[in-house]
This record gives sequence, C-alpha cells and structure tokens, in this order.
Amino acid sequence: VERLEELQALVQRPSVRCFDPERTVEPAVIEKLVDVARRTGSARNRQPWRCVAVFDRAVLQKLGGLGAYAQHVATAPVALVLLSADNGYRDTEFDLGRLAQTITLAAGALGLDSCLATIYPDANVMRAAELVGARAGWLPRHALSLGYGAVLDTAGRSSAIPTGRTALEELLTILPCSVTGGSE
Ligand SMILES: Cc1cc2nc3c(=O)[nH]c(=O)nc-3n(C[C@H](O)[C@H](O)[C@H](O)COP(=O)(O)O)c2cc1C
Repeated sequence: VERLEELQALVQRPSVRCFDPERTVEPAVIEKLVDVARRTGSARNRQPWRCVAVFDRAVLQKLGGLGAYAQHVATAPVALVLLSADNGYRDTEFDLGRLAQTITLAAGALGLDSCLATIYPDANVMRAAELVGARAGWLPRHALSLGYGAVLDTAGRSSAIPTGRTALEELLTILPCSVTGGSE
C-alpha cells in the first residue's frame, strides 16, 4: 500500500509551466532520467524513440513557438525533445506516451517538475527536427520541459485547461462473469 501511495503521489504531481530561473538542471540528471526510461517496454520491443536534451536558451525559445501551448519550453532550464520513429506502426505514438510517462515519473522521483508540449502542425514538427538536428525518419512531436517550479501567486497558476479527473465509477466498467461461462 505504501508503494502504491508513493506511485499515486508521483502520478498526480501536477504539470508545471513556470520554472525557477535560478535553479539549473545538470546534464547528468537528464542522463539518469533517460537511463531509467529506456527500460520502458514498447510494442515488439521496437523502442521507436530517441531523445534530444536542449539546454541552449535560443533553441528553447524557438521550440517554445512551435506549438500553440508550447511556450513553457522557452523558459525551462532544459527540455527533452522526444523523437518518434516515422515507421507507420499504430503503436508508435502509444510507445512514446509510455516513454514520456516514465521520464515524468522518474523526474518527479528526483523532485523535478515537468510539462509536456505538443509540437504541431506538421510544418512545426519539421522545423523542430531541423532545430535539434534530428536524423531523417525521426519526428519531434512532443517535448518535455524540465526544471524546478517557480513559486507563483494564485493568479500565476490559473489555467484555461479544466482540472480534475474522471471518477472511477465513470472510468471503469467491470464486466460481470456470465453464469454459463460465455461460450456455448
Ligand atoms: C500528450 C500530451 C500533450 C500535452 N501537451 C501540452 C501542451 O502542448 N502544452 C501544455 O501546456 N500542456 C500540455 N500537456 C499537459 C496537460 O495539459 C496536463 O497534463 C493536463 O492538463 C492535466 O494537468 P496536470 O498534468 O497538471 O495534472 C500535455 C499532456 C499530454 C499527456
């Protein structure tokens, strides 16, 4: 139960979009996060992912303009650009989601805040690929801002995005076992 509570605390750590400019993140910390995340399972063990860590402020600022809600990347001490293989498999973006979740949880375990950014439309994905020097066939559709959250007043925390989570009763249906066993 204790470990489950620890996991829940990490899962529900809120996204943070404003970072303390005084607190940097060392490349060694990013290496640790990705070293944990590379152990994540993927469909057919394809591991259709690569990560580019960006510390350069000018590049971060450009990336922050490549999605309607990507601005937080511009002010983060570091962003991990997540590259997905352009391989046409329906599981690829699902796999990237698992990778991103592992990185987010590992970051939280180290006391780091984070927020995802969606890079779109496709023209911006191409621009981002150029910016980070992605090899052909690798698409940066998401980036993860990482840093230590700035202390904000309540006004600074307000967001247009609805909060809260779907209730368990609405989310989960437990299909009853049929009395006859189902197959006749
Ligand atoms: C696939 C995905 C893409 C997201 N893209 C963005 C984004 O572009 N900009 C942003 O500010 N937040 C983005 N988020 C963060 C969500 O808005 C956030 O997780 C959600 O509102 C729940 O809030 P919480 O993480 O603080 O609990 C994204 C999250 C996911 C899972």
